[in-house]
Amino acid sequence: MPVVPAAAAVALALVPWPSRVTPGAGAFTLAPSTVIVADAALSEVADGFARRVQPATGFAYVVRSGATPKPGSVIEFRVDASLATTLGAEGYRLEVTPHRVTVHAAAAAGAFYATQTMRQLLPNAIERGALVKGVAWTMPAVSIEDTPRFSWRGAHLDVSRHFMPKEFVKRYIDLMALHKLNRFHWHLTDDQGWRIEIMKYPKLTSVGAWRTGTLVGDLHTDTAKRMYDNVPHGGFYTQDDIREVVAYAAERFVTVVPEIEMPGHAQAAIAAYPELGNVKRPLSVLRIWGEGEDVLNASPATVAFMQDVLAEVIALFPSPWIHVGGDEVQKGPWKESAAMQAQIKQLGLSGEHELQSWFIRQMDGWLTQHGRRMIGWDEILEGGLAPNATVMSWRGDDGAIAAANAGHDAVLTPNHHTYFDYYQSKDRAGEPHAIGGFLPLDTVYTWDPIPKAIAPDKVSRILGVQAQVWTEYIADGRAVEYMAFPRFAALSEVAWTPASGRDLAKFRARMAVHAERLRVLDVNMRPLEQSVVP
Ligand code: ACM
Repeated sequence: MPVVPAAAAVALALVPWPSRVTPGAGAFTLAPSTVIVADAALSEVADGFARRVQPATGFAYVVRSGATPKPGSVIEFRVDASLATTLGAEGYRLEVTPHRVTVHAAAAAGAFYATQTMRQLLPNAIERGALVKGVAWTMPAVSIEDTPRFSWRGAHLDVSRHFMPKEFVKRYIDLMALHKLNRFHWHLTDDQGWRIEIMKYPKLTSVGAWRTGTLVGDLHTDTAKRMYDNVPHGGFYTQDDIREVVAYAAERFVTVVPEIEMPGHAQAAIAAYPELGNVKRPLSVLRIWGEGEDVLNASPATVAFMQDVLAEVIALFPSPWIHVGGDEVQKGPWKESAAMQAQIKQLGLSGEHELQSWFIRQMDGWLTQHGRRMIGWDEILEGGLAPNATVMSWRGDDGAIAAANAGHDAVLTPNHHTYFDYYQSKDRAGEPHAIGGFLPLDTVYTWDPIPKAIAPDKVSRILGVQAQVWTEYIADGRAVEYMAFPRFAALSEVAWTPASGRDLAKFRARMAVHAERLRVLDVNMRPLEQSVVP
């Protein structure tokens, strides 16, 4: 029995699958004479659709305002404020009939998601960047009502372990938008490289963005067995680059959530400014994986330094959330530091866990004062959660359960379902070398994300879900795409589609068709394998 049905059997290969889909009869054909008309609030989105279809079709549409012309071939974008209460700002209604395509949305975001659906209704060749002749640009007649399950539909990218040029970052954001994902978590700093220009502290990038080489193969416990490529690696984004990416993302209704890691995973910063550390010897930007040899000290001067960094970060990123990391903070350097032991005593804290919590609270208070919300990995629960913190639960679901039940917001990022740096097959020899783990497509798809242990009145504290792409063994954009796809597509349905609308066999059938679209977009997707029943 074939595992993947023939592509032709799937007429509507939409990913993520919408809330409600009613197929109609016939098809709409995009023609040079088609008129696109939009209400003012949706005209930019309509224009975005026109620009997207222009290269392949060669049709140069100018979006009109005002009343709908009749008769003729028309695509119209209309505001329907009543949808705000039924489908929300990100929801939309899309009617495709042989003569007319109508989009109704309460806000531009919803209309944008309608255009992503329209794009997927058109032939794959619409994704080409150059004129394609001999294609009938049809959309099958259909009636769709759609709204996302979760407001946080994230994708993370680690650009510290391997620097990713801004062109790839923009492509990643494009691929997010195609799948209706809306939070780009940009992991900008870590032990192995600091990637964001900070005007006040230039050595963060002149020193902290560069390492002398990179570990090759496994991180052997026996240091004598470790191998290095000895190839200098680095790079960073200027503040202009950041503004460009943030604006690019905003046009695609993606919020960029920056992460500045503290107080752990900060060896690149300590290499640049040794006074931020605890050990009294020079450290380099780390060349191996795992945790660095030191963490930030928690002195008032270091707290002020990191708040200076955050001041430049909030000027660049309009995101309501700013991520401060907080994970895997080794306590050894603080245990051995007379200054940190004195500070623990002076603050009346019980030990290093409470000192970490104290440090994170300094950032939470500062961000709250500046009108932003702090978000951190689930270790920020240890030693007491800061008052306004949102938690990303990565070590399983427990962090989200504890946070939500305590009345805090949480995002589900558990390694068991969302770490896309894990192997996609048990046949490791047939895969690119990865950090470990095993997370096949079907396991991602069939994930029921809301943990049962969250009290029913606290479930609304779960903002959503997010994919993680850590890049220890992922050296460039092509390699990111191999690890992200097809799992990204599965995660997009967990994030968007109502639980009642999810069906693994149907997803796989649609995915076989959607894969062709990704191929036209030159996505280096891992081929779909036989279904691995989780
Ligand atoms: C993490 O994987 N350390 C958040």
